[in-house]
Amino acid sequence: MVHEHDVVIVGAGIAGLYAALESSRSVDTAVLSKVYPTRSHSISAQGGTAAPLGNMEDDSWEWHLYDTVRGSDYLGDQDAQEILVREAGEVAFELEHMGVPFSRTEEGKIAQRPFGGHYGNFGKGPIRRCCYAADRTGHAMLHTLYEQCTKNDVRFYSEFFVLSLLVENNVCSGVVAWDMKNGGLHVFHGKTVMFATGGYARAWKVNTNALSNTGDGMALVLQAGLPLEDMEFVQYHPTGLYPSGVLVTEGARGEGGYLINNEGKRFMEKYAPAKMELSPRDVVSRSIQTEINEGRGIGGKGYVHLDMRHLGKQAIMEKLPQIHELILKFSGIDAITDFVPILPTAHYAMGGIPADVNGRVIMDPKNTPVTGFYAAGEGACVSVHGANRLGCNSTMDCAVYGRRSGRSMARHIQGGGEKASLPKDALDRGKAKIEDFLSRKGNENPASIRDELQQTMMVNCGVFREEKLLKKQMEIIKSLGERFQRVQVGYKGKRFNTELQDVIELGNMLDFVEAIVASGLARTESRGAHSRTDFPKRDDVNWLKHTLAWKTDSGIRLDYKPVVITKYKPEERKF
Ligand code: FUM
Repeated sequence: MVHEHDVVIVGAGIAGLYAALESSRSVDTAVLSKVYPTRSHSISAQGGTAAPLGNMEDDSWEWHLYDTVRGSDYLGDQDAQEILVREAGEVAFELEHMGVPFSRTEEGKIAQRPFGGHYGNFGKGPIRRCCYAADRTGHAMLHTLYEQCTKNDVRFYSEFFVLSLLVENNVCSGVVAWDMKNGGLHVFHGKTVMFATGGYARAWKVNTNALSNTGDGMALVLQAGLPLEDMEFVQYHPTGLYPSGVLVTEGARGEGGYLINNEGKRFMEKYAPAKMELSPRDVVSRSIQTEINEGRGIGGKGYVHLDMRHLGKQAIMEKLPQIHELILKFSGIDAITDFVPILPTAHYAMGGIPADVNGRVIMDPKNTPVTGFYAAGEGACVSVHGANRLGCNSTMDCAVYGRRSGRSMARHIQGGGEKASLPKDALDRGKAKIEDFLSRKGNENPASIRDELQQTMMVNCGVFREEKLLKKQMEIIKSLGERFQRVQVGYKGKRFNTELQDVIELGNMLDFVEAIVASGLARTESRGAHSRTDFPKRDDVNWLKHTLAWKTDSGIRLDYKPVVITKYKPEERKF
């Protein structure tokens, strides 16, 4: 079956829904999602969304820009970063007016809290910039956007899993998707296609991500012969609940929670004496990991303590109710009276599908756009976050660049953008994938391949990296890829075949992790979240550039493109 729409958006998180809301004002818009839209991973964003509103104290987009540039360790494109911080205020108010139930100040304005890496007056003291709805900000944003899209008659295809991106001669015509509920393949033919397909942290054992975050969009882009950008930059959030890695929001530290080791010391004094727990995430995660590696984890184990007890019951229950509940349910610990065990946890992709500031996907170092193909949100790399994202800049990136992409697609169509013809074998491509997996007769268990991938990515491609470990991981990925050819899907049914879905997702993970490891091996420096023990210094002479990675029959091919620097030349970062 072929579905015709003007705009076809894959992914129903904040970026996808904001884009749909914008494009549906003027053109026919469809959203495909492999989960029900309000179960998209944006729902888990806890702490807030960054905008220099100045509701609690003076703030300005210039200060926000300075922090975002420094936070990114100078790898972010400063034109894109400036757009983010200049549009953030307007977007926050737009969200408020749509109905996002933000927490409030006494005067009734949007309440704001401190977050790591956000400071006043060009890097001085922590500033309250993070707009929040208790610790359920993503939930509030996602539901509001979904309601607004429904009002605009956006057509939703829920539980449709995209198997193939249709790009030929540098023009995108649509996607092929599997209807998971009813079974069967569907082609979606659009004047524009947008990927808002989210992150990938399920490739690590300890992570904050939903089960659905298997980097499918990134893998589909590689499979279509297009590149991914800056894949070596993987964010470890400092505070995942031990041992699972479930997110304990940075809002906990923003509200005054602090970190202590097995000697009872606030160890951040040693690593970042000025900004302490409110330093950027790469700095805090490395500090925690160093304490653990050097035996100062609690009881010598792989975690340290987050102490929130002094915040008091009222503040915790008012401002951090969700994490109080999560910690209680997952660990049986009451954060009002007890220490919370935490460890760094795989959280966020700074890299992804290369896109320009209007959401157009680009295909080479000269920034040549792929006609009709757009991307935004965590799955995209604009690049706003460079080598390290600041907390609460992600939901705002999704909102600002989702909105821009929606507008840009509508402009393209209103300017005469037409549908490219579908490849003749479009449906067959999806069919071949499904039949290939269902007919494999091997003896390999996909769960054991996935488990080995997740365990080894923790060890060999974690907070700290080095050549020996990355090379080892590349060998492991290759051997897992060979084993993957022999996976057996036991259940052959066409409806809700979650076993088949798991296998396809595993194949996707094996594709993009290769790009992560190859890009990380090549980058012989330490910058932001990419911390090489064998190359501990940042090297601006050789590495102030973005990586592009293509998948080829003989492995990953790399190329590079310059970073856009407008206002701030790279300087040493001290916190
Ligand atoms: O800590 C948090 O609430 C996560 C926010 C983010 O990743 O921006």
